[in-house]
Amino acid sequence: MFDRRNFLGSAVAASISHPVGAQALKAVPLPAADLHGRDEDAYWKALRAQFLIPSDVVNLNVGTVGSSPRPVLKAIFDGFAQTEQMTQPGSEDYPIWGYGSWDQYRRPFADFMGARVEQMAILRNCTEANSYVANGCDMKAGDEVLISDEEHGSGEMPWMLRSRRYGVVVKKFAMPKPPKDAAEILNRINDAITPRTRIIFVSHISTSTGVVLPAKEIAALARSKGIVSAFDGAHAPGMIKVDLNDIGCDLYTGSMHKWLFATKGTGFLYLRDKSIMDRVWNTIATGGYDDPTRMADRYMQIGSSCIPTLMGLNAAVDLANNIGMDRIEARGRMLCDYIHAEMMKRGAEDWTSPDPALRGAIATVNVPPVQRMELQDWLWTHHKVRIRGGNPSKLRLATPYFLSKADIDRFLGLYDEFRKIKGIA
Ligand SMILES: Cc1ncc(COP(=O)(O)O)c(C=O)c1O
Repeated sequence: MFDRRNFLGSAVAASISHPVGAQALKAVPLPAADLHGRDEDAYWKALRAQFLIPSDVVNLNVGTVGSSPRPVLKAIFDGFAQTEQMTQPGSEDYPIWGYGSWDQYRRPFADFMGARVEQMAILRNCTEANSYVANGCDMKAGDEVLISDEEHGSGEMPWMLRSRRYGVVVKKFAMPKPPKDAAEILNRINDAITPRTRIIFVSHISTSTGVVLPAKEIAALARSKGIVSAFDGAHAPGMIKVDLNDIGCDLYTGSMHKWLFATKGTGFLYLRDKSIMDRVWNTIATGGYDDPTRMADRYMQIGSSCIPTLMGLNAAVDLANNIGMDRIEARGRMLCDYIHAEMMKRGAEDWTSPDPALRGAIATVNVPPVQRMELQDWLWTHHKVRIRGGNPSKLRLATPYFLSKADIDRFLGLYDEFRKIKGIA
């Protein structure tokens, strides 16, 4: 059947994409670290040049998927070129994954996330990691998992599956919209805990509103009541600085392909210690899945996979470390505060939070009677500006470091124009 949206999508893609050959993957020098102090705009401009996103495209939606910059792409393609020669040194050595511990890929990411290598399993995406948590946690029929009403389908559905199949009870608490402070969220969670609650599973950063939940306090609350704490951190790595061992949670999942701009097909599962590993079954298994000496690496025994993906992951971690997570987080927050304040001036309803501590680099606003799908299509097909939201009138505006204030002003100008065209005061 003719699908208007796909047709428009492909038409715009054809009009703006440029052939990307080896030339486009050529290394472009990274800015010197001290350029930031001398000329901040030039510093971020040089980083913008690392991305293949055409210079006239404004991408306010890395919340769905990121764009891998040149150093990551180079590592991936070099990785394929190397490994596909099939000239690995050992006679048992092949470009295969799923049977080794691959510490050379796990360790840099574990360090980046404030974890130890033995606590970190690299998987293929956050959905897979969430499925490991929901399928694997030792629970009986009637035991409860407490989730929020803002979980992504990839966080909620694995629990619904477990519930339908094995009778685990999924209880939801309503997130305040917007939360005025962290205490309000903690109180909602505390009030929803029952004697049957075994696990609290919530997003670290809400996909729907961008709220950064008080993870450390939630983990402490769960621990004080003997409840397992698990976070879906799909949006956290590369957006905010995360120190998993400082958070003190039992389980944490996430994606590296969004804000860290790593290879598509990268996700992870963190497990705090042996005692939690003893209570989480594998979902996918091959030889080694039940070897307790392997710690988190036993959750990586998933069969063959893709090593160049992991080479791309290392390059993404290197780039983020080169820039510095403090700097990345501050930039994302500054841009987010700016777009948030500008949308508030325009009468938008705030669905993130008035408290900057509960925001990262996503601002979500409700803007009735603007129809978000109409605005989203119009912005992309006519103006090369990408946003995403939810029907009818929610806009989710993501502000990664590679954007500039001028990019945001372009979006704001177009938003004003759209409202004028639609006769919205
Ligand atoms: C909170 C959350 N969890 C999970 C996912 C799914 O992530 P992945 O594509 O890595 O499976 C998303 C994707 O947007 C998300 O926002």
